[in-house]
This record gives sequence, structure tokens and C-alpha cells, in this order.
Amino acid sequence: MNEIRSQNKTIGFVPTMGALHSGHLSLLKKSKSENDFTICSIFVNPKQFNNKEDLEKYPRNIEDDIEILKTVNCDILFCPSEEEMYPEKNDEIFDLGGLDKVMEGKYRPGHFNGVAIVVKRFFDIIMPNQAYFGEKDFQQMRIIQHIVGFNKMPIQIVPAPIERENDGLAMSSRNVRLNQEERKIAPKIYQTLLNAKEMAINCTFSEVINYVNREIASIKPFKLEYFEIVNIQNLKSVEDFSEKKNCIACIAVYLGDVRLIDNIILF
Ligand code: PAF
Repeated sequence: MNEIRSQNKTIGFVPTMGALHSGHLSLLKKSKSENDFTICSIFVNPKQFNNKEDLEKYPRNIEDDIEILKTVNCDILFCPSEEEMYPEKNDEIFDLGGLDKVMEGKYRPGHFNGVAIVVKRFFDIIMPNQAYFGEKDFQQMRIIQHIVGFNKMPIQIVPAPIERENDGLAMSSRNVRLNQEERKIAPKIYQTLLNAKEMAINCTFSEVINYVNREIASIKPFKLEYFEIVNIQNLKSVEDFSEKKNCIACIAVYLGDVRLIDNIILF
């Protein structure tokens, strides 16, 4: 790595927890096209799981992942053990500027602090020029941008748009855990978001909120955890649509025991 840096070559970094899919591939391709070297990490980070069962059930498939990485000519795969990542106790508490207090943060206490610990550790080890994050985890991406800004790290965070299956379902490593029936229903999350976006043009804020709550409740196996419309920059709840700008709608839904998240920019 030091050799790469001493030659003034750029390093692109794509952090992952494995179970790679086309969403990861698009991040890797983007990094390959924008940097001299691309590093992908695969590490299922225990610190960001607030639910033991979710950690245990998180899909792991390193052989398949290696084959997928070969298809995009990823230069380096970094697959550290827990001991390598955390040789000493690491319980650092991050100031995440309040961005961690809403949506995912409200329902997954400690999650973003765990993400912050691992991402900061990766950044310190790899010292990439650019790091790539998918917008499916929009709140995570904003929090990483905050950490980099707050700590004045010389790393550019590059967001990449959500990759979707043909039927609209946002790509996620968790999708493989859906059974056939659940997989058929799952795209309705995105359809509902699309309808909400269309409604937002002419309807009131409450009408859109009520529509999504009603719609998701009417589809039997769905259990809505949250649907929130927030400001794209500070993730604060939007109260009405008077400004008609910088609004993103974010949703988390349980389908059986699989938790799916998605989002859409309204305007
Ligand atoms: O988005 C993920 O897969 C994880 O949160 C990340 C960024 C790899 C940190 O463990």
C-alpha cells in the first residue's frame, strides 16, 4: 500500500460485509474506473449488529464472493479477522452530529456507532483516496460523510445510486434470505415509494404519510418499522411540503424475519 501511495497512484476502497451482488459490483466498477487500485474489504462487523440473530444469519459466501471479485478485476481483497480488526478493545463513541438518532438509529441502537468504528478503522489502515458507498443505506452514507468531514480526513466519499432487480426490489445481501413468496411481494416496497413520490407532487405531507402506512399495512406479511420523510442533508423530519426540495422518503419493512430498507428522493 505504501508503495502504491509513494507512486502517487490513487486507491479506491469499497467496504462490504460480503454476499456480494450487482449493487457491490457497480461500486467496484466505479472505483476501478476512477482509481489506479481498487480494494474491496469483506468483514461482517459484529459491532454494528444490535441483534445477535441477524449477525448469525447474515449470509456468508466467501468462495462465491472471490469469483465475483475476479469478474471486475478487483486488485486487492482485504478479508481481516476480528482479531486483526480489533486487536484491542475498541469501544470508541463517535459524535455523529445527531444523524444517528433518527430512522435506522432509532430502531437499531448502537448500529451507526459500530459502523463508524469499523469504517474509521478501515480508513486508518487503507488510507484510500476515495471510498464508495451505496445510497440504499442513505443514512449510513450521510454519517460516513459526516465522520470524514468532522475528522478532516482526506478521503472523498463517493455515493452510488441504488441498484435494483428488474422488478424494482433494491439489491441487498439480505434478499437471499427471502422465501419464494416473500420475494414475490418484496418489490411492492419500491412500488409504494414510487407512488408516494408521484403523490407528493400534488398531495399534502399527511396524505402521503397516510397512504404509505395504509398501503404497507394492507399487504399482509409486511410489518412496517418506519416510513419517514427527512431532509437530505441533516436527516431532520420534514413537516410539510411547502419547500418542495431536499426531501427523501426512507422506509424499513420486515418481511418475515428479514428486514428490508429502501428510499426515494421525492424532490
Ligand atoms: O454497508 C455495509 O455493508 C457495512 O455497513 C459496511 C459499510 C461495510 C461497514 O461494515
